[in-house]
Amino acid sequence: MSVAKKQYKRITVKSLIEMKANKEKISMLTAYDYTMAKIVDAAGIDVILVGDSASNVMAGHETTLPITLDQMIYHASSVIRAIERCLVVVDLPFGTYQGNSKHALESAIRIMKETGGHAVKLEGGAEIEQSISRILTAGIPVMGHLGLTPQSIYKFGTYTVRAKEEEEAAKLKEDALLLEKLGCFALVLEKVPAKLAQEVAESLTIPVIGIGAGAGVDGQVLVTHDMLGMTHEFNPRFLRRYLDLYSEMTNAFKQYIDDVKSVDFPNDKEQY
Ligand code: KIV
Repeated sequence: MSVAKKQYKRITVKSLIEMKANKEKISMLTAYDYTMAKIVDAAGIDVILVGDSASNVMAGHETTLPITLDQMIYHASSVIRAIERCLVVVDLPFGTYQGNSKHALESAIRIMKETGGHAVKLEGGAEIEQSISRILTAGIPVMGHLGLTPQSIYKFGTYTVRAKEEEEAAKLKEDALLLEKLGCFALVLEKVPAKLAQEVAESLTIPVIGIGAGAGVDGQVLVTHDMLGMTHEFNPRFLRRYLDLYSEMTNAFKQYIDDVKSVDFPNDKEQY
């Protein structure tokens, strides 16, 4: 179903806050390269996230921890060359902002200067307050990320739903309020109970974008390669697959191999 919505020529952080106020849901997907970003942007997405999930999806690492700032800059600058309309948010990778706010600012400045990205995303709440504040003082928009924060996977031990217990839920609510107070323009909530996510969204004026956080938030984000069905070994409950590209691509590759072996390809019209 297509939904009536205000036409934006370019999406800015202000547009997202306006969308929340107008009860228009925000759409966000990941992209890490020029070709994918061009298709996603032309389809009309509101936000592209150059996620550190590139560490898993593009580089095949088990976690998001190994990806470097230089690698994120390479991915983000490829995405920026492709887009015309959407807002591009770039993840600050693990080890580039925790513990030292000066270092955090330097990392964020590199992202903004060397990629042309529009905002950065950081994982965590009170423990990274100084880093967030310092980045914001330089005029760089910050998106927060609470709930399941994959850069802390070795602290959690598993990728299961977070904040099911009262104590963790209370800390998450406090952190969400703090991020809004500090000046973050939006917040990602990953893999938390839908009721808690809705409560958080209703308590904030900035948009809350969920992944595995139910329908009561202000927008949704998925990893593009997952929703296209390219990564078929990953099957969380929250993931809706819009295509089965793993099978489609496998069939195309097999057909190509057969065509080459049987000299069906190239035919007379496919040569000079
Ligand atoms: O890196 C990423 O793709 C993310 C999303 C899962 C929100 O942070």
